[in-house]
This record gives sequence, structure tokens and C-alpha cells, in this order.
Amino acid sequence: MSNLKESKTYINLAKAYAGECQARVRYEFLEYGARQGGLVAMANLVAKVVFNEFNHARMLYTFIQTATDATISNIDIATGYPFKEKWNILDNLRLATENEKDEAELIYPEYAKIAEKEGFKDIAGLFKNLAAVETSHKLLFQDLYEQLKSGAMYKKTKKTLWRCGDCGHESNLEQAPAICPLCQAKQGTVLIKTDVMV
Ligand SMILES: [Fe+2]
Ligand SMILES: [Fe+2]
Repeated sequence: MSNLKESKTYINLAKAYAGECQARVRYEFLEYGARQGGLVAMANLVAKVVFNEFNHARMLYTFIQTATDATISNIDIATGYPFKEKWNILDNLRLATENEKDEAELIYPEYAKIAEKEGFKDIAGLFKNLAAVETSHKLLFQDLYEQLKSGAMYKKTKKTLWRCGDCGHESNLEQAPAICPLCQAKQGTVLIKTDVMV
């Protein structure tokens, strides 16, 4: 096992940390837009992903600290990060899907391979586990994108149990009620139907 501070893995941890911090903020843009647009249930779902990314950043930071002594205050990382957000919920869901796909299928598997080669088994394991979570994020964003684009988010072809996120009232209908019959909350507070767990 090489010295972590002298390794490629050290830089990769810092790159991944920066990537997670930025992903977290980009998804906060998405959450903010959804909340402003009245899609409260979607905003709450995205908030879970935001919290996941915070925890990914926290774990990466912890590994960086194991190799960083008091004399080091900066880590130079030269790499590219996406700056494509459009302030439009549909575009941002598509971009988030692409971002998660890159992390899950390209970036983290590559970092895991390098960490393994350099003898950092724990860090390789972290990158592999992160890749698996990013895959579920990708599937969630993709599902939300498709539902919103096709107009199927609150309109299904069979009877569906809709639960109001504010008061808990349930309606078994094809289409979610425009206004909750119990508390008058708008449709966007009704839970979204997705098979993807985050
Ligand atoms: Fe992440
Ligand atoms: Fe993610």
C-alpha cells in the first residue's frame, strides 16, 4: 500500500468530494425549483438525494483527513465539473440523470480500480458503494423526468392510491385530485408514485 498523500487516490478523493458538494448544490437548485413550482412531493424526494450527497461528501472528507496533517491546507485538483443547469425542472432532471450516470458508470468505477491498484481496499470499497447509490439516484431522476415529461406524474391509467403529503388523506383514483378534498392542498403535495427507493 502506498502512502495515501502521495497517491492518485488522494487526489481522486478530493475530486470526488468536490463533485459531491457540487451535485448536492445542483440538486438543491432542483429542489428549490420544484418547491417554487408547487411540486412539493417531488421537492421532498429530491431533498433525500441532497442529503445522500452530503453524506457521500462527508465520508470522502473523512478519508481525506486521515492523510492530511496540519501543514496542508490546500489540495490542487485540476478537473472538469458540469455547469449545465438551465433553471428549468425538466432540463435539470435530465442533467441530473446524466450526472448520476457518469458518476455511477465511469468516474467511481475508475477511482475504485485505481484505489485497488494502489492498495487502498477500504477506499475502493467506498467508491464501489457510492457507484451503487448513484445508480439508484440515476433511476429516480430518470423516472421523475419521464413522468413529468409525459404528464403521467399525477395521471395514471388505472386506479391509484394517492396520499396527501400535508394531511394524509387518501384517494383511490386514476388521477390525483387537483385539490385535496380534506385539507385543500394543491396536487403537487400528493405523493409521487415511483418504484425507486432513495
Ligand atoms: Fe453521491
Ligand atoms: Fe447521487
